[in-house]
Amino acid sequence: MSWHPSTRGLSSYILSVLADEDRNHKFELALRYCVSSFRTEQGYRPHVLDFGCGAGLLTHHALKAGAAFVTAVDCNEDVRSIARLTLERAGFVEGTHFAILDRVPPDAVYDVLVSDILGTLTTSERACQFWTPLERCIKKFDFAPRPYYCVPSKLVQWASVVRFPEMFNADPSGGMKHAFRASCRPQDERVHLVSTQELGLPLCSSVYQRVHPRVQIRVDVLGGRDGTFLHTAAAKSVDLPIEHEDDLLCFEWTATLFDGVTVQTTLEEYASLPPGVRACRATRWGLMLGVPPLGSGRFGVAFRAKDGMVRMTPKRHRVAAT
Ligand SMILES: C[S@@+](CC[C@H](N)C(=O)[O-])C[C@H]1O[C@@H](n2cnc3c(N)ncnc32)[C@H](O)[C@@H]1O
Repeated sequence: MSWHPSTRGLSSYILSVLADEDRNHKFELALRYCVSSFRTEQGYRPHVLDFGCGAGLLTHHALKAGAAFVTAVDCNEDVRSIARLTLERAGFVEGTHFAILDRVPPDAVYDVLVSDILGTLTTSERACQFWTPLERCIKKFDFAPRPYYCVPSKLVQWASVVRFPEMFNADPSGGMKHAFRASCRPQDERVHLVSTQELGLPLCSSVYQRVHPRVQIRVDVLGGRDGTFLHTAAAKSVDLPIEHEDDLLCFEWTATLFDGVTVQTTLEEYASLPPGVRACRATRWGLMLGVPPLGSGRFGVAFRAKDGMVRMTPKRHRVAAT
């Protein structure tokens, strides 16, 4: 069954989202560039749709950047109340500067889309599936320099092979590796996907060693210059070698928000973030690890992209040359 956002209660990750200063700064910058490009290129202040507004931070940034009005939509009743409170406390007036709704009205039209409903995989919060129906309400401009104004504008999903973090090797009993494998339960022949968020803070914020370069397995372009609202290109099949029993598949992503402003959940990004921000990033998005079955020896892994989801099957005896 596919994932659905909850309509009541607060997610455990909400504070990690709001305390990720790097993410917040990047969205603020991207919205500043987007709204000012819009004003210069289209000649008026835009009406912004903040889809999945949460506590209203991106609505706040859009208004500060010069948006004429922001419609903030969230399916969760409890976060809508928080958004209302925080925006009013910041001096914005409901009805004058913003509206908060539980869904996008059928006949509405907006100039700019901003949406952070990104998950540990680009597909895990079904962002692209939820964005597709928004094509009807995001204005398409006929003339240069761009047909749409969307934040984010491009998502790249990567896969690579990594090795257990150093701290596993520092454990002389090997207990950490056994505990890790037991908690991931890779019992059958398939590769099991686990999010580091579910494995406790030491694992989420560890820096893993990359042993095979990352490869793109899916690219989603939102509001592309070719005039397509959402274009997805997914690799049908990619082989990655698993050569050591400590090897894990690792899924990372890069989101271009607007005009070169990027937010990432990649090994390099994790390594460069200050520890507090890294902990927030790790407990919100984390990395997705693919854990091969124990004792499977050396084999390749084939990916198949179906319905936007990544599936993996080990291919025995397809061993990369050493
Ligand atoms: C990660 S939070 C982001 C909150 C806020 N935009 C921010 O950046 O700080 C994602 C929010 O999107 C909402 N959401 C997810 N999918 C949604 C959907 N399909 N329709 C409406 N809201 C959705 C969730 O309820 C949640 O509040």
